[in-house]
This record gives sequence, structure tokens and C-alpha cells, in this order.
Amino acid sequence: PRPAAKASLRILLAGPRGFCAGVDRAIRVVEEALRRFGAPVYVRHEIVHNRTVVEQLERQGAVFVDELTEVPEDAQVVFSAHGVPKSVPAEAQRRGLTYLDATCPLVSKVHREAERHFAGGGPDSHHILMIGHAGHPEVEGTMGQLPPGAMTLVQSVDEAATVQPADPGRLAFITQTTLSVDDTAEIVATLRARFPAIQGPKREDICYATTNRQAAVKTIAPESDLVLVIGSPNSSNSQRLREVAERAGAPRAILLPRADQLDWSVLEGVRTLGITAGASAPEVLVEQLLDRLRERYELAIEEKSVTTEDVVFKLPAPLAC
Ligand code: F3S
Repeated sequence: PRPAAKASLRILLAGPRGFCAGVDRAIRVVEEALRRFGAPVYVRHEIVHNRTVVEQLERQGAVFVDELTEVPEDAQVVFSAHGVPKSVPAEAQRRGLTYLDATCPLVSKVHREAERHFAGGGPDSHHILMIGHAGHPEVEGTMGQLPPGAMTLVQSVDEAATVQPADPGRLAFITQTTLSVDDTAEIVATLRARFPAIQGPKREDICYATTNRQAAVKTIAPESDLVLVIGSPNSSNSQRLREVAERAGAPRAILLPRADQLDWSVLEGVRTLGITAGASAPEVLVEQLLDRLRERYELAIEEKSVTTEDVVFKLPAPLAC
């Protein structure tokens, strides 16, 4: 007997999706450090929030640790793409460790903004409202650029509506780079309405990659019965993509760390499947998902791209030459 014909499934692939320039650079920093200095190279915190990337680097000789206390003397250490509080390089120096900083240049830019607003704590100093999510390493890194008390975390419109800064005339805001564009616009509007003198970037510090991936998922969501977002649960920008997809009209959006974790039952009744990937998810994970889907479906794939990206960041100075 002839095998039964496969059901057809329309796939809408969001573009851009997956790796951003900051993630690409952070991975190259670890690979280049391994090549130049040999294994092991210690990495403080997951270099980017993706298990597949972390496991691949571990196979090459990278050792991931939570804190510098776990790094032995004389070792080579890399700081992750999310950025680190000032205390971390200071501790590395004190212990005589050689370190490389893989902080995304767009996160470093926010660090410099914070320092500018703080102005050394002198007469021109502004108190800073940091818009972001508590506990995310980028927020810990950014807030750790200044002494305790120089910044207040604002996580929601409610908090923006109730925060009571000591001097509303000397106020500034900065943001995490991987937030929801729409939520952040509301938070910023609330702050600007309450504190007209507040200083800050024209809109916010959300990076080009976060902005483009959210714009792209918005175009596929309304036509999709389900959107799968390839990404890890601890990846902020992947979580935001999932939320944006549902708000933009997808009946359901699910975060999927890797293809082998796909539960076939979620595809019941799905005729059009949207797919995107967070900024820390390699394209190979999208390809593996498509291969897995081909086991059961005849795929009709359409790529929907809202823009093309050509951002590439140079490696940090010690590795650049
Ligand atoms: Fe940088 Fe944005 Fe990627 S801040 S690490 S380019 S998500």
C-alpha cells in the first residue's frame, strides 16, 4: 500500500529572527579566546541565554561559572554579552585574572548613558529610573555601574505611575535593551507625563535587534494559528517575542527551546504556523524544527521579512588584532 499523503502545513518564517550582532560577537569572543589561549576559558554567566550555544562552547573547552570565586587563579575569564556590574572587573583585577569583556556594545552604550546622567554624583547629577526586569543579568550589570541608590528600577506602568523620586526636577531614565517596544513606550509616556523635565534617550534604549524581531513577529502573528518562538525561557527578548505574537493576534504563541521538545499535540488544528527565534537562538535550531515538522507534514514555507540587518560588531581590543 502507498503511504498516506502527509497533511500540508503553511509556515510563515519571520525575518529578521535569531542571532543579533551582540550575540554573534560574544560567541566569537569565547571561540577566539579558546583559539589563542587554549582551554579552559572560564565564562562568567551563560555567554548568551541559549543552552545549545553554551553546550557547543563547553565541548570546545569553555567552562561556565556563576561567580568569579569559581574561577581559579591565573585563568582566562570572559564576561557575558549582558554586561557586568563594575564590581566584577574590579574583583578580577584584584585577583590578577585576565579577562575579556563580551558585553554587547549596545549595552555598554547604556552604561555610559547612566554614567553621564550620574555625573560623578556632583551638582549636575540626576537620579536614574532604570526601566527593566528585576533579576535579569543586564539589569544587574547596568545598575551596578553606579553606587547603590543612584538608580531605581521601574518594571511596569503601575510603578512608573507611583515612583516617588526625591527630586523630580533632576531625573533621567534608561532602559534594558530587550524589552517590549510597546510596553516600554507606555512606561516612558507615563514618566514623561509625570516628570516633564526627565532626561533620556529620544525613545528608549531598546536595541535594533529587539525592535526588528518584534516588528517581524507582528507581521506573521495575525495570519498564524500558532507561533513558535525558538528560544530559552531565561532569554528576555525571546519571552517578549512570545508575548508580542499573542498581542498581535496569534491565538497562541509558545516558547520552544529546541525542536526535540516539540509536543505534536500543539499543532492540532493548526494550518498556518508562524516561526521566529530570539536573538540568542542559532538558525540551526530553526532548521532542525523544520526538519522535524517535515516528518509529519508537507511544508509550504513563506519567508516574511520586514527589514534586512547588516550590523557587525568588532571584537574587543585585545582580540581585534
Ligand atoms: Fe546587543 Fe541587542 Fe543583541 S543589546 S546582544 S544586539 S539583543
